[in-house]
Amino acid sequence: MRIGGSMKVVTGSASVHLSRRLAEILRVDLIVGEVRTFADGELYVRVPEQLDGKDVVLVQTIYPNDKLLELFLLQDALRDITASLTVVIPYFAYGRQDKRFKEGEAVSSRAVAERVEINAHRIITVDVHDKRAMEYFSLPAVDISGMPALARYLGDRGVEMIVAPDENAARRARIVGDLMKVPWEYFKKERIDSWTVETEEKTLEVRGLKVAVVDDVISTGGTMASAARILRDQGAKEVVAGCVHGLFVKGAKDRLRDFDEVICTDTVYGTNSKVSVAPEVADELRRLT
Ligand code: R5P
Repeated sequence: MRIGGSMKVVTGSASVHLSRRLAEILRVDLIVGEVRTFADGELYVRVPEQLDGKDVVLVQTIYPNDKLLELFLLQDALRDITASLTVVIPYFAYGRQDKRFKEGEAVSSRAVAERVEINAHRIITVDVHDKRAMEYFSLPAVDISGMPALARYLGDRGVEMIVAPDENAARRARIVGDLMKVPWEYFKKERIDSWTVETEEKTLEVRGLKVAVVDDVISTGGTMASAARILRDQGAKEVVAGCVHGLFVKGAKDRLRDFDEVICTDTVYGTNSKVSVAPEVADELRRLT
């Protein structure tokens, strides 16, 4: 794979903003896949340019579900014609169901990995929930971190301490804290159900500080809201929520009202996408060339 005239970035409808930024950084052409929905709800997909013999980087977040189907169709549109096909999945949905927690369950992240690698030569994801999911790929697959992007934004905002809302996110808080050269800490959380979490009280030295809570995903907002309440009670001056993948399902923004600011990257693009992971994706593509 070479960056230059023979490389093209093709985007699905879920990743247009990120892909535009990526193509600008790499100084290559961007092609936006055509997507239509038939009367019966079936998708129609077309790549409106001849890409025979090109090194193609196909970018598509696979959330919500129809975007996953769109990716399959885009991969089919490009099959057998490109010199190489690198599939970038900025938000790898289903990553949280990466094992069988209860008998009879699907290992969803394995099921998705096995299918998205059909008609691809390599895969790049951003902040999968757990690296374990990467073992489900048989192709070369790399997960890059969105934490440097969050650190860039939070550093510019003068954040003085980083907190992870649960133990899983502690390694992410460490990356952000170390890059910003500020202290980091973590809470322990228990999930009761999809909508309810309980965060263990832990006294942190946050009085008078501007604190950011960082995580991979905000879905219902319950995890973040629970951490914010504790930090407010302990006297934090300002509390910012920062995540890579901002899903913000129904009611999430209301649940996050205790935060002074809520930001995410452009892996799932929306009004809170204040920073791009395109520089990190571009760096990874350069490494591969
Ligand atoms: C789970 O451990 C993840 O890292 C997130 O903390 C979680 O998915 C966030 O979900 P919610 O916003 O619904 O609490």
